[in-house]
Amino acid sequence: MALETVDLTPVIGSQLLIDKADLLSGRFRDEIRALLVRRGAVVVRGLHPSDEELRAIAATLGDVRVGGAKRGADGKTLNEGDGGILKVSLDPDVNPDYARFLPGNHLWHMDGHYETTPPFATLFTPYRMANQGGDTLFASTYAAFEDLPKDEQDYYSTLRVVHTMQAALFPAMRTCTPEEFAVWCSYPVVTHPLVWHHKSGRKSLVLSTSASHIEGMHFAESHDLLESLMRHATQDKYVYRHQWQMGDLAMWDNTGAMHRVMPYDTASRREYHRCTLNGEEPITPVAA
Ligand code: OGA
Ligand code: MN
Repeated sequence: MALETVDLTPVIGSQLLIDKADLLSGRFRDEIRALLVRRGAVVVRGLHPSDEELRAIAATLGDVRVGGAKRGADGKTLNEGDGGILKVSLDPDVNPDYARFLPGNHLWHMDGHYETTPPFATLFTPYRMANQGGDTLFASTYAAFEDLPKDEQDYYSTLRVVHTMQAALFPAMRTCTPEEFAVWCSYPVVTHPLVWHHKSGRKSLVLSTSASHIEGMHFAESHDLLESLMRHATQDKYVYRHQWQMGDLAMWDNTGAMHRVMPYDTASRREYHRCTLNGEEPITPVAA
């Protein structure tokens, strides 16, 4: 049986019309995974999953991350929550380690830029919504690559980009303490190809605020190129903006889309519950 879906924009974002029992059954695993990769972001309305159901749905789709690759301020593994549920909140009482990294979510990024095999996908559901703001945006890095002129595609396919935690977080936390900055600096510096040649054959741009500079390029030129690519990739035509309702489940393909959260009133104690699916393929360059 085919899945019932509604496109939310031409290139990214689909609403999936499915009930909880069908999602939990795993019967549509292959179709939903394919939809996720094809459409970048998939949302189901009115689902109201409990934490247990969120984890169970995630487990039908991939390898649920339990205890992450992220490191907390003390150098230990960040708490990805009880059995794979991560509580995403700026409130230090909810998740003290993660709250310190959260302001970076306000900027366009992919998750796990410091891993050679970044997470495949994330499942996300509101627990407490912001009073105002707090929409989540998704941008297709497949579409952004595919629309580039061939000569630019070829040139970008030769470039490698250095990603750092300082680059990811400093623009969102300019008033950080020297101690916080030192923690960011302790994260691995990872170099990724600018263009990811996926096993499927499709190619995407590997962009994220974590992109510090392009290897071997003058810093000023590298800055301008990364900035202009980011501007290109986040044009409205590549973006789906999700306006949340309680009960929503959103999933995004972290390997073919960037995401960001829009500003919100922190007093509203916005809290979302999240399951992360481990990556399944390393970021692979286009063969020379
Ligand atoms: C994340 C993230 C966006 C949001 O959890 O990685 O970027 O809307 N969240 O909170
Ligand atoms: Mn994120």
